Amino acid sequence: MRKKLIAGNWKMYKSPDETRTFFHDFLPLVAGHIRDEIVICPPYIDLCAAVQATKGTNVAIGAQNLHWEKEGAYTGEICPRMLLDVGCTHVIVGHSERRQYFGETDDIVNFKLKAALEAGLTPILCVGEVLEEREAGLTEDVLRRQCLRAFHALSTKKAAKLVVAYEPVWAIGTGKSATPQLTSEAHVLIRGEAAKAFGQQFADKLRILYGGSVKPENAKALMAEEEIDGALVGGASLNPKSFAAIVKY
Ligand code: PGA
Repeated sequence: MRKKLIAGNWKMYKSPDETRTFFHDFLPLVAGHIRDEIVICPPYIDLCAAVQATKGTNVAIGAQNLHWEKEGAYTGEICPRMLLDVGCTHVIVGHSERRQYFGETDDIVNFKLKAALEAGLTPILCVGEVLEEREAGLTEDVLRRQCLRAFHALSTKKAAKLVVAYEPVWAIGTGKSATPQLTSEAHVLIRGEAAKAFGQQFADKLRILYGGSVKPENAKALMAEEEIDGALVGGASLNPKSFAAIVKY
């Protein structure tokens, strides 16, 4: 049995003060919840407040992005060691908004994934097709390419902590989540790519999350699928009550 992971991606929302308020309200709602792993990924500037607020609790903190170099003259960037230093355990890699708006290529995603794993962070690698790709029947090709390129030059041993999130781009922030069945099909394909790259045993243990308009109303049906090992939640993770309801699906 793969333990499910429910992760919140706050994107560019909330200040440090708002972060403290969130955890003040959220933590009592999920106290003692051990069935699933809970992770919140706030903006960089909120990480310290989030780590402080969740110390000794069942909630872990992750970043939304990282740079792949160990340090250097890269204005505005954050390296893996800095994330570890503030107490992050997870990091989102290759989110579609980074790919779409910030020019992140498959190569960059690969560098970031390798850097995160090497540092000992748990990366949540995002893959997913845009609407035009789905309509053109290219979903399988896109997912295969994104996995293959992301996994390039990674050993099975190094990849041990890998988590993948299938996020069809047309389902993100649209209120139109993918059906459990369609999601499961994509997950089977991704698991197959992981098996080719890292072996069947690894693939059987790999957690593959679904992301895209996950809400308290659809979480239960999605999480009931054997292939779906958790959720990456955007909008609905900003509200303590709705995120707690998703965690407790
Ligand atoms: P959403 O975002 O839940 O608001 O659709 C998901 C994501 O981008 O990770």
